[in-house]
Amino acid sequence: MYVAGVHEDAGGRPRNRRQRDPAEACPGRLGERANLRLHDVEQSLDFIDDVAFDGIVCALVLHHVANRAQLLSELRRVLRPGGWLLISTSHPTSDRHRFGGSYYAEDWVDLPVAGGEQSIHYQRMSLETFLAELLDSGFVLERLVEPRPTAALRDLDESAYRKLQQSPSFLAVRLRRS
Ligand SMILES: C[S@@+](CC[C@H](N)C(=O)[O-])C[C@H]1O[C@@H](n2cnc3c(N)ncnc32)[C@H](O)[C@@H]1O
Repeated sequence: MYVAGVHEDAGGRPRNRRQRDPAEACPGRLGERANLRLHDVEQSLDFIDDVAFDGIVCALVLHHVANRAQLLSELRRVLRPGGWLLISTSHPTSDRHRFGGSYYAEDWVDLPVAGGEQSIHYQRMSLETFLAELLDSGFVLERLVEPRPTAALRDLDESAYRKLQQSPSFLAVRLRRS
């Protein structure tokens, strides 16, 4: 099963056009092999049985969620014991660079994208807070990665490549359900 996120604006309209219909999000790629579902992960995952999954990928979503303790508790519930959880998030040093203030700040921020026409709303946090929330939720840290750009990015966007060679934008961890 694949659970796709949904994030509506104040008027209840999906922010991402592709997310109006889960099937449109991955046209032709998953076919019958996956069950797609739009779901607000601020709400419980009560449509999933306990210990249903061997592994979960939660890519760049956690920092958008206010009720992270509930979400992490739900992710743990639906994972089998020993199951793996991959989580990526915004890198705290990159947020410090973007928004200034204290490295330890945990405020909600808006990152302008698309030339400032849109923004991405999320909560920045220190590495200590990010990891503590995961460990306190019953996961064990197996690996932490600060991804570097691949050579392919150099051909696409040399300036982004150079920037990401200097400092990471994201952080990724692999955890094991205790
Ligand atoms: C930065 S995008 C990451 C998208 C994709 N996972 C990736 O790695 O490219 C953040 C995603 O978080 C999702 N999201 C934010 N809040 C959510 C919520 N409460 N419930 C479900 N998904 C949410 C948004 O819909 C969006 O797809």
